Amino acid sequence: MSYELKRELIQMDRALYEIIGAIKARIALERESGVAEFIFAAPWADAGREAGSVDGKAVKLEALRSEVLRCKRCDLAKTRTHVVFGAGSPDAKLMFVGEAPGGDEDLQGLPFVGRAGQLLTKIIEAMGLKRKDVYIANILKCRPPNNRAPLPTEILACEENVRRQIEILRPAVIVTLGKFASQTLLKTERPISALRGKFQEYEGIKVMPTFHPAYLLRNPGDKKLVWTDMQKVMKEL
Ligand code: URA
Repeated sequence: MSYELKRELIQMDRALYEIIGAIKARIALERESGVAEFIFAAPWADAGREAGSVDGKAVKLEALRSEVLRCKRCDLAKTRTHVVFGAGSPDAKLMFVGEAPGGDEDLQGLPFVGRAGQLLTKIIEAMGLKRKDVYIANILKCRPPNNRAPLPTEILACEENVRRQIEILRPAVIVTLGKFASQTLLKTERPISALRGKFQEYEGIKVMPTFHPAYLLRNPGDKKLVWTDMQKVMKEL
């Protein structure tokens, strides 16, 4: 074997190890968020459908995820650690949409894993579900510095991503958490206090706006209002 050929083989070997390492890291990340099943499919094959995911949703979400992971449409790309695309079941009947990743989410690349996330997990479990049964995403996919509120320009640059996620998932119900998610999806400026608790519609999908879990951490007295909203969602499901 020539020296050149040997060198090329070693380089190919290294590249393969890097790819395998990246796949392993990705699987570990998804496992942490409660995903128990993985569907590996070439985008050109209809393997998602064969593997049981309705209409190949898993494959379409993966294609969108790899696009969003490279996004540089706004300045948040410069300060993020990870893009927080979303997590959960591609076949979820229930989707939660929050505002933007915070510090914990930015570090882990997963939505709602900090204190507000722990409260959201409790809400989901009180509904008789697990995180892996639902899909969780945010309006912004990257963390605003110091957890400041999203800027209108950032929402404008990013909202297409959550709209495409919804188009793929087509859940039966979307719960919008807080002012930013509710106002963005419903194209309204009405305050969350006026929107919450009443079903609205987004592209033929029922939307229940409710308070954000971070707000509930500061105002625990309003947890009962969120619970009445979630009871309406459970009845609808
Ligand atoms: N708040 C959000 O709106 N989203 C997260 O993912 C975490 C906190």
